[in-house]
Amino acid sequence: MSAVIIDGRAVAAAVREEVGARARELTESGIRPGLGVVLCGENPASQIYVRNKGKAAEELGLRVDQQTPPGDSSTADIVSVVQRMNDDDGIDGILVQLPLPSQIDPDAVLDVLRPDKDADGLHPLNMGLLAQGAKPPVVACTPAGCMEMLRRYDVPLRGSRAVVVGRSALVGRPMAMLLVNADCTVTMCHSRTVDLPAACREADILIAAIGRAGMITADYVKPGACVVDVGTSRVDGKLRGDVDRESVEPVAGWLTPVPGGVGPMTIAMLMHNTVALCAARRGAGVPASPR
Ligand code: GUN
Repeated sequence: MSAVIIDGRAVAAAVREEVGARARELTESGIRPGLGVVLCGENPASQIYVRNKGKAAEELGLRVDQQTPPGDSSTADIVSVVQRMNDDDGIDGILVQLPLPSQIDPDAVLDVLRPDKDADGLHPLNMGLLAQGAKPPVVACTPAGCMEMLRRYDVPLRGSRAVVVGRSALVGRPMAMLLVNADCTVTMCHSRTVDLPAACREADILIAAIGRAGMITADYVKPGACVVDVGTSRVDGKLRGDVDRESVEPVAGWLTPVPGGVGPMTIAMLMHNTVALCAARRGAGVPASPR
């Protein structure tokens, strides 16, 4: 057996196509969706992510307002950049690229973000709605992208056992909540989990969001499981996931590759969120989301 490789680039292209159609509809009615981007400092990985996000937004005809405050900015400086975007009616989604430099309190920044402009779904209100099992207007882009791939490849969710490795606010926590809301039985694992391979081998769906290149080997994978690789480590200049593809591919039922899996989906879901927020806030008649 060899895993079905989930083509994140193809799924992302399909999502972007749907989002593009709604963006055109809005623009033709005089409402051009706008994305505000805050990139503080000069983290090279963040610069690449933000460049790709800006490019995708421009390809869909969105207005992009990118602010690049210096790396020695204070929390108050970043808060005031976000507040200006909050007050700009032409900005529908605001993305504050993480991580922020260590002197800045990310929670203080996320708190001031208008929840109805929260392109990343990271505001406490939107995270709280997700935790309650309600449908928030937006969901964090990477976990939302993972769910979209699972759905489009008909990976069975209801009643399945899902294991999420990693408990970050950006990925692990919202991912676990989305899987619970989709009727999976979910276990969250992290750096203190005892016998991680045994816990992972219980998974029908294994989400690897650890940040350690190649850590998930075949030893962690139940035969036939769906393995979603969220890792993005640079090793010798190359992008590597958390999954050791060579050993896992013959065992798994489905596998998202790195590159070409979760990465393109994160960007596609940011576009989806921005256009959905635009439609919800000021797009009379245009549906916020087809889902
Ligand atoms: N840093 C890495 N991934 C992301 C993301 O999806 N959103 C934000 N805001 N920062 C990130």
